Amino acid sequence: MPKKSWIHLRKIKKGLQTDFIGQEIHHFGEVSSTNEVAKALASEGAPEGTVVIAETQTHGRGRLERRWVSPAGGMWFSMILRPRVDPKDAPKLTFVAAVAVARVIRNVLNLKAELKWPNDVLIGEKKVCGILTEASTKGGVVNFVVVGIGINANVSLDLFPESLRDSLTSLKAELGEEIERESFLRVLFGEMERYYWLFTQQGFGSILEEWRPYAGFLGQSMEVVSFDEKIRGQAVDVDENGALIIRLEDGTLRRAVSGDVIVRKQPSI
Ligand code: BTN
Repeated sequence: MPKKSWIHLRKIKKGLQTDFIGQEIHHFGEVSSTNEVAKALASEGAPEGTVVIAETQTHGRGRLERRWVSPAGGMWFSMILRPRVDPKDAPKLTFVAAVAVARVIRNVLNLKAELKWPNDVLIGEKKVCGILTEASTKGGVVNFVVVGIGINANVSLDLFPESLRDSLTSLKAELGEEIERESFLRVLFGEMERYYWLFTQQGFGSILEEWRPYAGFLGQSMEVVSFDEKIRGQAVDVDENGALIIRLEDGTLRRAVSGDVIVRKQPSI
C-alpha cells in the first residue's frame, strides 16, 4: 500500500483568514490522542485557537470511553478554546463544531451531511465525523475547553473493524476519490471561528437555529439508549441546554442529556 502523504501545514496557513483558530498548529506523525496532547499544551498556557493535528492516533478516544479508530488519511485534530462561559455550557461547543463540520462538508464537497444528537456528523445515515469536547475548570470557571474532531477523510473503509463498517463512512468512500485535507481544514477553521463567535456573542440559541435544519432525525421515531435505560419515542427538538426532547408514545415529553440515538425506520406501506 503506498504511504499516505502528510498534511502540509504551509498549505493550511496560506490564505487562512482566522484571527486565532489554527494560527498555531502542532502537527505530529503519531500521538496517543490529540485531545490528550491539546490538554497538556492548554495546561501549559497555549493560546486560544491552538490546534493539535496527528496523522494517526494510537489511543484515539470517543464519547462514553469508546475507542476511536484513527488510521492514516483521516483528519484527527483538537482545538484549544478559552470561552468565558459557565462550565455547564462548555459541552455546547460540540454543537458549534458539528454545525461547522456539516457546513464545510456540504459547501466544499457537495455531500449531504446531516447531524445526529449529540455529536455525530452523518452522510446517508453513516457516521463520518465524531466530536469529543472536554473542559477543564478552575475555581468554578472554565480554564480551557478542548474540542476534538475526528473526520474519516481519505480512509478506506476496510481499515475499520468489520463490526463498524456498516455504520461508518468516509469522505473518500462517498466521493470515490481523496480530498485535499489542507483546504478542507482551512475552511473549517474559518467556519469554526465564525460559529464560536456567534455562540459566545449571541448565545446557544443562534447555534441551535443553524443546527436544526441539518438535524434530519428530528421528527422521526427513534430510541435513545442512555446508561441502562432505553427511551422510545419521537425526536422533537434540542432545548437550550443541549438536551434532546423526546415525545413518548403516551404523548408526554422526556429529556435525554446523554446517550446514543438509534433512528427507527418506519415500515413502508
Ligand atoms: C465520538 O463520536 O465518540 C467522538 C470521537 C472523537 C474523535 C476525535 S479524533 C481527534 C480527537 N482525539 C481523540 O482522541 N478523540 C477526538
